[in-house]
Parts: sequence; C-alpha cells; structure tokens
Amino acid sequence: MASSSNAPIGIFDSGVGGLSVWRALVQRLPHEGTLYLADQAHVPYGPRPLAEVTNYAKGITRFLLAHGAKLIVVACNTASGAALHTLRETFPAMPFVGMEPAVKPAAEATRSGVVGIIATPATFQGKLFQQLVQRFTSEVQLETQTCPGLVELIETGTQDAPETEILLRQYLQPLVERGIDQLVLGCTHYPFLRQAMQRVVGERVTLIDPAPAVARQIERRLRRRRIQALPGTGQHTFFTTGDPLTFAEMAQQLVGYTGAVNGVHWGKDCEIERR
Ligand code: DGL
Repeated sequence: MASSSNAPIGIFDSGVGGLSVWRALVQRLPHEGTLYLADQAHVPYGPRPLAEVTNYAKGITRFLLAHGAKLIVVACNTASGAALHTLRETFPAMPFVGMEPAVKPAAEATRSGVVGIIATPATFQGKLFQQLVQRFTSEVQLETQTCPGLVELIETGTQDAPETEILLRQYLQPLVERGIDQLVLGCTHYPFLRQAMQRVVGERVTLIDPAPAVARQIERRLRRRRIQALPGTGQHTFFTTGDPLTFAEMAQQLVGYTGAVNGVHWGKDCEIERR
C-alpha cells in the first residue's frame, strides 16, 4: 500500500455528487492530489440493494488502491451506509473517511426540535443511519424524506430546469409543514441544488452540507498518520465508468474543473479496467 505523503487521496461516488466533497477537500487542502472515480455506469446507487452497492464500492477501492491512493474518501452517503463497515474490514490497512447524514450538528442547532433529513432509500436502510436514529431520536424529532429523480436531474445538468423546483416543492414542503428548522443534506449530490432548496424551504430553515466537516476530518486523518502532502499544488485525476466528455462538462459546470477525464469500464469479477 502506498503511504508516502505525496500519494493522492482516492475519492469516489456514483457520479458527480462527490464533487461537492472534492471541492471542500481541495479548498481546505490545496497541496493534496486526488484521484476521483465516478461510477456513472451504475448511477443512481440510491434505489439499489445494499449488497450490490457494497460490491461496487469494493471494486472501486481496489482500483484506487492500485493507483496508489493513501486514503479513500467514500464521498457518497449511499455507499458509506452500505459498505463502509465492509470496506474497513476488507482493507484494514487503508484509512477510509465516509459520509453520514449530519444529524448531530442539526440536533445541536435546532430550536423547533424538528430536523429534516433528505437522502436516498438505501441510505435510510443502511446501518449508519439506523445508529443515528437510535442516538438522536430521544432528543429531536427526525423527519426523513427520499427524493426520487433529483440525482438524475443533477447528473444530466438540468438542475436549473423548472421541473427541479416542482420536485423540490413536492419533497420539501411537507417537511416545512412538519416544523423543521434544520435540513440535513444526506446525499452528496444535493448541495448542487442548495439555492433552489433554500428558495423552497425559506430563510428560517438552515441547510446542512457536511462537506466542510468531512474535509476537516480528512485533514485530521492525514495528520494523525503523518501522510500529508508536501507544500506544492496537488494534481487531480478523474475517472468515470460512464461517458468522460459528459462528466468533464459537468465537472466544469459544477466545480470549475477544466482538466481531462479518463474513461474506465467494469470488467469481469467486479474489477475496473482502463479503456
Ligand atoms: N451521491 C450519492 C449519495 O450521497 C449517491 C446518490 C445516488 O447515486 O443515488 O448518496
């Protein structure tokens, strides 16, 4: 396993959602290089069985390890909920940082006592979320909502279309009516709809994007293992199991990345191969 300080940080998601975490990581740790893999051949992960998502997460981890990652960020709530535990067991030498809905800061900040959480069906079924419910349910009222179709809208770059606002009203209005004053964005795609969401829920509801906290967590893990990059500007490499040109357009639109994107594909035995 590569552990030299100039090795890249591996980061993956089903698609462009993990770019919301990538952006926070690069802002906080500009010296670090990254290897980002978008599994767009399988997006969305949210409606899939947890075992299937776990298999993809293992295949992607092997790919990132083979390309020298020193730490892996599971920049996807769905894959974290389904697979983080298995990944840590299967690759014990590799440090992983995962995502979970940011219920803790929401529970601390709420004044109404009602916290809304939006995420995929698989995230709500996963063990990580069940543990959060057990931990916080006596303190605050948790109101959950899945948002079918939103990930697909973001993946196709149509987040500014009128249908997005219609869907957001349908999903978020009932949460507002139940009295939420905090809305936890429990899917890494959702921060790209932040402004439209804020318009729908109004200024009295605080939206919580965990990406900055995850970037701080990555920094702590690197420091503890003494594997931070040396000063200099990190190089970034992007891979997708989908269409590289489409991903490149989206990466530019969403986070201003203008470099190349490499196409890879799933081979047999759940291994990712270069094209
Ligand atoms: N961005 C992902 C998440 O955080 C996955 C969404 C999906 O593929 O359904 O859950």
